[in-house]
Amino acid sequence: MKKIKLLTLVALGLMLMYGCKDVQEQQPVQSFDEIVASRRSVRNYDASKTISEEQVADLIMTAMEAPSWANQQPTKYYVAMDPEKVAAIKDLIGEGNKRNTAGAPVMIVSTYIKSRSGFFRGQAANEIGEGWGAYDNGLSNAFFILKARERGFDTLIMGMRDSDALRNLLDIPEDECIMAVISLGYRALDPVRPARKPLNEVVKFF
Ligand SMILES: Cc1cc2nc3c(=O)[nH]c(=O)nc-3n(C[C@H](O)[C@H](O)[C@H](O)COP(=O)(O)O)c2cc1C
Repeated sequence: MKKIKLLTLVALGLMLMYGCKDVQEQQPVQSFDEIVASRRSVRNYDASKTISEEQVADLIMTAMEAPSWANQQPTKYYVAMDPEKVAAIKDLIGEGNKRNTAGAPVMIVSTYIKSRSGFFRGQAANEIGEGWGAYDNGLSNAFFILKARERGFDTLIMGMRDSDALRNLLDIPEDECIMAVISLGYRALDPVRPARKPLNEVVKFF
């Protein structure tokens, strides 16, 4: 009898040491649908919160898992964390975007290396040409923004930007095509979901 009591105590002790501790440390599990539903273009950021280089690297590691043409992985990320660089990028995205990203602590410029995706032996493989590089870049950015949401961050993809000035500012080589600027931070307000088209306008089943 004494032996059983002792074993029960040992088991409880182990559960407290390992089992319960793990549960407390776990992040609340979000389904893919929950992440997609809560991801929005955020245009109002909490300026009091910061993000570390390790946290951004973690998001980029997920973005690197995105598929790409013949695994060319043409996408690159130029990440501004330093407040001066962040401010300089915000000056190159137009007044509206600058206002909307005011509190975002991190600004990212995404590019793709030209003439890799969609190319075979230096020739465009089909009529899409460089469009495949942009396609791969968009896939990578999609992984990035969804991972960011899973980690509790928010983003805004911006196509309105001065690419020549960004190239100068961040020393981006000429063989890279500059795509979106992405702000990264924490939402200050919950954005409204813009309506989506009805399914029948988007899909045709055969
Ligand atoms: C390629 C691209 C460019 C965009 N450019 C801008 C932009 O310059 N400024 C902005 O406020 N939103 C921009 N957006 C965000 C869209 O307006 C937004 O994704 C769309 O309205 C749907 O809203 P949601 O992202 O909250 O679902 C852009 C989105 C994409 C994908």
